[in-house]
Amino acid sequence: MDYEKYIKSVMDFPSKGINFRDITSLLEEGPVYQSAINDLAKFAKSKNAEIVVGPEARGFVIGGPLAYSLGIGFVPVRKPGKLPREVATVSYEKEYGTDTLCIHKDSIKPGQRVIVTDDLLATGGTIEATIKLVKELGGIVVGVVFLIELTELNGSELLKDYDVCSLIKY
Ligand code: PRP
Ligand code: ADE
Repeated sequence: MDYEKYIKSVMDFPSKGINFRDITSLLEEGPVYQSAINDLAKFAKSKNAEIVVGPEARGFVIGGPLAYSLGIGFVPVRKPGKLPREVATVSYEKEYGTDTLCIHKDSIKPGQRVIVTDDLLATGGTIEATIKLVKELGGIVVGVVFLIELTELNGSELLKDYDVCSLIKY
């Protein structure tokens, strides 16, 4: 399917110079959203994934349905102060600013086969931080999946050791 036509681009959001790729217009189209999740699920299934991990907030709208469609668990990666139990923490750089992410320490079993996901790959800081958390917990990253990859930012350089699946490339 031509997913790109369902993405709206908004120049200078949230700050000057950023060409924001808005996935909400794709999410609004049920069959398109479903088809995108099904495509990512096919990839994840081929990797024998046992659990899906995704960062807030937009990683949840991909990771949750992906895990559901595979019948496996979903682990949320969240900003500080949101997860109630003991967490592992990592700080990282984004296309616009810095941030910190956390994961419940007991959410992934050592050796578990993990698909890491987010809506979009930009500089790769968020996904790299998420992968660090998964590895700290002993998970094996068997694949990394996105709706969108912004190729000019070279985020995929950080992912060259992993099997990556992106449905749209800009
Ligand atoms: C966006 C997007 C990715 C990340 C990609 O999230 O959803 O998580 O940026 O950028 P990177 O590859 O340079 O790290 P954002 O931090 O804006 O948060 P949100 O999901 O809560 O909107
Ligand atoms: N997250 C980081 N960069 C982004 C962009 N250009 N569009 C949408 N989300 C983003």
